[in-house]
Amino acid sequence: MRHLMSPLDFSVEELDKLLNLANDIEANPKKYAHACDGKKIATLFYEPSTRTRLSFEAAMLNLGGSVLGFSSADSSSAAKGESVSDTIRVISCYADICAMRHPKEGAPLVASMKSSIPVINAGDGGHQHPTQTLTDLLTIRSLKGRLGNFTIGLCGDLKFGRTVHSLIQALIRYPNIKFVLISPEELRIPDNIREDVLRKNNQEFVEVASLEDALPELDLLYMTRVQKERFFNEEDYVRMKDFYILDSEKLKLAKPDMMILHPLPRVNEISVEVDEDPRAAYFRQAQYGVYVRMALILTLLEVEVC
Ligand code: NCD
Repeated sequence: MRHLMSPLDFSVEELDKLLNLANDIEANPKKYAHACDGKKIATLFYEPSTRTRLSFEAAMLNLGGSVLGFSSADSSSAAKGESVSDTIRVISCYADICAMRHPKEGAPLVASMKSSIPVINAGDGGHQHPTQTLTDLLTIRSLKGRLGNFTIGLCGDLKFGRTVHSLIQALIRYPNIKFVLISPEELRIPDNIREDVLRKNNQEFVEVASLEDALPELDLLYMTRVQKERFFNEEDYVRMKDFYILDSEKLKLAKPDMMILHPLPRVNEISVEVDEDPRAAYFRQAQYGVYVRMALILTLLEVEVC
């Protein structure tokens, strides 16, 4: 039995297979409409979510399966003090697969050790968000036609943004990628990603504070929200939250085919006027999230569709 805790749990070859499956699902949705008849996914969300939880649920429903779960810690037995280990042992009796989001780093990993069904990490604190990374990889590969040979800017809250941590780890396995890490001083990428992931792998990267200076060289721009819920005090958040705002004026500095990604939710960091720009890919990215989660469910449940 396999779980998904980090994007590195899949080899590059396995990822390729998964992304091909997601593209096939996109092209032939009917073929997969009954692939998971009778199967259930449990979505155990101890932290807020719109896209991740609902895209997992949509994915299972699209495959003919059904869904159960909770969308906040308050409405589960966590409010009574139950541990994730106990919760997962019980959920293993009710469902075939589960997706768990938790504010504590490592909570889904702890759950996976006691689980008799596959556990998917749907975001653990400021640590990892592997299924967002699968979504990002599918979006980049589908819209750009390749993974590799590009300069990608990652902009915003690189310290607490788990989507950025997972995406960097996944992308360093592809050739000729340059990272431009754009953040205010206080929100720079954590030391462990800089040293153990980027430097250790001789990955080309620069750390800068100015989005305007970085824009002209980028093939991809991955914007992120300042992660309000991970700040220790409101004052720091308020000071940082509007540090970067991408608008049509700034976009004049970018390449005509630079792709703009964002895991969403957006707060102020991309003006709504940018939504009409053909380079804006973040809503298509959310759609790709459903196809890739369908592919992931099929893969972890070892369901083959001919
Ligand atoms: C992200 C997350 O939860 O980390 N959202 C998502 O799953 N698409 C990004 C965020 O909340 O800023």
